[in-house]
Amino acid sequence: MTKLKVAVLISGGGTNLQALIDACAGDDFPAEIILVLSNKADAYGLQRAKKAGINTSVINHKDFSSREKFDQKMDEVIKSAGAEFICMAGFMRLLSEWFVEKWFDKLINIHPSLLPDFKGLNAQKQAFDAGVKTAGCTVHFVRKEMDEGPIIVQKSVEVKKDDTADSLAAKILEKEHEAYVEALRVYCVR
Ligand code: GAR
Repeated sequence: MTKLKVAVLISGGGTNLQALIDACAGDDFPAEIILVLSNKADAYGLQRAKKAGINTSVINHKDFSSREKFDQKMDEVIKSAGAEFICMAGFMRLLSEWFVEKWFDKLINIHPSLLPDFKGLNAQKQAFDAGVKTAGCTVHFVRKEMDEGPIIVQKSVEVKKDDTADSLAAKILEKEHEAYVEALRVYCVR
């Protein structure tokens, strides 16, 4: 089986990355991760990638004078690794329009809310504070507007009376792992 060559962009712990690594380990999974790229050298997700034998790259956005120059460097590294598709998994940088256009429909993101509700940072807490009864996560194609773009998969969780913002975020994160694997599979077999 020819597998889709995927680069995963991270900034932190990388539990979504881990879910993708685990899924890709299956012989019949239609994608393989060929590069994990982080804008932070101390992102724990880099250790997860190394443990799985995946090439890693760190590009510190602070070393670049503009968002576009940083994105151009990422593009160069991603292209030379041979990636055909990009998954953003807790990558906490906004991308330039240039990058989004370059990877149009080949760039997906996971966000911890049922978009279009609760865009931006701390989406889980936004949902909790709003008192919603149902929260969740979304995997979507990336467009130039933040947290917008065609939805591939959404998964919901019930907000229980005894939930806190933290317990809700943990429940959503568990669903994220399922949603991301499902979305990547759906994209590959579409
Ligand atoms: C996840 O909850 C992801 O949805 C969120 O960051 C977390 C990363 O966790 N992303 C965003 O909020 C992007 N807008 P992880 O590093 O354990 O996968």
